[in-house]
Amino acid sequence: TNLAGAASKDNKRYFGDAYQSFYLADPRYGPILDSQFSAYTPENEMKWEVIEPTRGVFNWTGSDLIVAHAKKTHSIVRGHNFCWDSQTPSYVTSITDPTELTQVLEEHINAVLGRYGNDLYAFDVINEPLNDNGTIKSSVWSNVLGENYIETALTIAHKAAPNVKLYINDYNIEGVNSKSQALATIAKNLLDKGVPLHGIGFESHFIGGELPGDISQSMKQFTDLGLDVAITELDIRVPVDSSGIANATVRKLQADNYATVVQACLDNGNCPGVTVWGFDDGHSWIPGVFAGQGDANLYDFNYQPKPAYYSTLAAL
Ligand code: XIL
Repeated sequence: TNLAGAASKDNKRYFGDAYQSFYLADPRYGPILDSQFSAYTPENEMKWEVIEPTRGVFNWTGSDLIVAHAKKTHSIVRGHNFCWDSQTPSYVTSITDPTELTQVLEEHINAVLGRYGNDLYAFDVINEPLNDNGTIKSSVWSNVLGENYIETALTIAHKAAPNVKLYINDYNIEGVNSKSQALATIAKNLLDKGVPLHGIGFESHFIGGELPGDISQSMKQFTDLGLDVAITELDIRVPVDSSGIANATVRKLQADNYATVVQACLDNGNCPGVTVWGFDDGHSWIPGVFAGQGDANLYDFNYQPKPAYYSTLAAL
């Protein structure tokens, strides 16, 4: 039995992993990817800085490999991302003219979706647009185009790839709070205007023992509008020792937390699936960004399943 099979059986959900194509150089990575996961997100290789590092010069290497791998394993792909305040080259972030920025955005989206439009299930068109207080985050997009950039990017993307589900993806919206309420208002206004928006991504980079108690209620804010809500970047970080490992008590708590998140998805008829942001601790972004924390994933540094793996499988 495996995560993807369990997710698809009664509930018809996918269970996904975010990875980079070169992780497969380790012969231990592919067998777990192929046997446990049915959806892939390119962890970095569809980001602007990787895929169009210079205007009009495209690097399809990594993204081609992930899309080809998905075809081979009959998996789906969630593209990630177009408009973000990070990992965007300076030739984009230095633009101050709205017409030029819109032109560059349109060229970029048309190129990426022109190549992959028929191969993708969904795309995080807008990534992390809000501050925690619910205001629009400063970025080249909001600074030059105003809040309208969201509508502009979604409209361009839908025209380029009408079958791809278009998402706004963010963190700290997994509970009912200022940020998720502001996003629900934005989403409702977009839908009222007929803007092509199909889903909201709950990143779900959680801290062990600190899950919001109202994930289901927060999901409902969006699914009541007719949107999907996917869990897009799940990991649950915990305090670790000097070798990057957590103790058994903490791992048990973490395992319960993983099950809670999966259950929230299963409890909502419009949550199509869960994606973990890397399946093993050896390929996690957490230790590099959050000092003293880690052990956030389903498998340990030696590709052995942890309690969180078994609790996730049992919850599905
Ligand atoms: C992270 C990647 O995992 C890292 O490899 C990279 O150095 C930085 O970005 N929110 C997102 C993801 O939407 O794109 C981020 O991924 C993690 C936080």
